[in-house]
Amino acid sequence: MSDNAILRSVIKGTGSALPRTRVSNAELSKRVDTTDEWIVERTGIHFRHIAEDDETTSSLATEAAQKAMDAAGLVSSDIDLIVLATATPDQTFPATATIVQDRLGCNGCVAFDVAAVCSGFLYALSVADSMIRTGAAKHALVIGAETFSRILDWEDRATCVLFGDGAGAIVLSAEFGDKGILGTRLHADGAHNQLLYVDGGAGTTGTVGKLRMKGREVFRHAVVNLASVLREVLEESGQSIDSIDWLIPHQANARILDATAKKLGMPAEKVIKTVDVHANTSAASVPLALDTAVRDHRIKRDDLLVLEAMGGGFTWGASVIRY
Ligand SMILES: CC(C)(COP(=O)(O)OP(=O)(O)OC[C@H]1O[C@@H](n2cnc3c(N)ncnc32)[C@H](O)[C@@H]1OP(=O)(O)O)[C@@H](O)C(=O)NCCC(=O)NCCS
Repeated sequence: MSDNAILRSVIKGTGSALPRTRVSNAELSKRVDTTDEWIVERTGIHFRHIAEDDETTSSLATEAAQKAMDAAGLVSSDIDLIVLATATPDQTFPATATIVQDRLGCNGCVAFDVAAVCSGFLYALSVADSMIRTGAAKHALVIGAETFSRILDWEDRATCVLFGDGAGAIVLSAEFGDKGILGTRLHADGAHNQLLYVDGGAGTTGTVGKLRMKGREVFRHAVVNLASVLREVLEESGQSIDSIDWLIPHQANARILDATAKKLGMPAEKVIKTVDVHANTSAASVPLALDTAVRDHRIKRDDLLVLEAMGGGFTWGASVIRY
């Protein structure tokens, strides 16, 4: 079949949003027993944005989604699907996607959340792509949005310095041709629940809980899982490591980014890195990094992109996209 006969999900626009307040490592070290040197050396993080009381997962998501719609040249009535990835919804229910839908004025279309923590955007992307390719949607908003600052234990210096808040969004549209999502692979392994989790929940403690992590073990699994899923998705989509123009990884830690790129033999210049200024924003991190590199003109039309992420569950996945 010629490429012109294949229906694909094409990225038509990107957008992102960050809370107003940016916190440096030096500022953080006034309230947490840490230092700028420790954080930079172990993680590459210099800054993170932290939501104020009036900033929520839905408000950040709405701003990012509106920018993505504007970039795509679409209006609210064009959107027929909203998939929002988050582990920090405004409320346990309804889905934050429906709050965003109402704010954008896309009322009536399909809207729901997916929960796959830091891999959430890859999961959301895959669901939206499947619905587009089966004809269930034509123009989808895929959003990753988080306010992780609200589930951090600010007494636990081993975790609270690592995360930040933010949102990223894309518009995916159905188009025939050779552009768009060429392949996606997702995985989960619930055996690793206790390495990265939140110690509360609506159906257990009746509280939201705080993030808990065994950082060293997560690090080890991340590098192995990410390198392996990247190889899988490249093989599935018939692409080679050399053909990748940009790797857009989940921004957890600069050392994980460097180690994964090295394991794959990818030059560091092809890896989009925003962890230094955003820290780990969970489901928001991949679309935030993507939007950053689209807007600073590094990413150009026809470039081959690979998105990847790994997070609590464990969950992990990767997607190959002709932009
Ligand atoms: C979290 C992480 C940066 C910690 O680095 P590490 O080299 O594994 O460090 P450890 O946890 O073993 O701690 C080493 C020492 O630093 C100390 N330390 C931990 N956090 C600190 C901080 N913020 N400031 C200063 N010291 C700190 C520890 O107390 C420990 O001290 P000790 O040796 O006296 O006991 C690293 O494990 C990591 O990046 N893991 C992956 C996490 C991740 O990306 N998770 C999200 C995936 S979605």
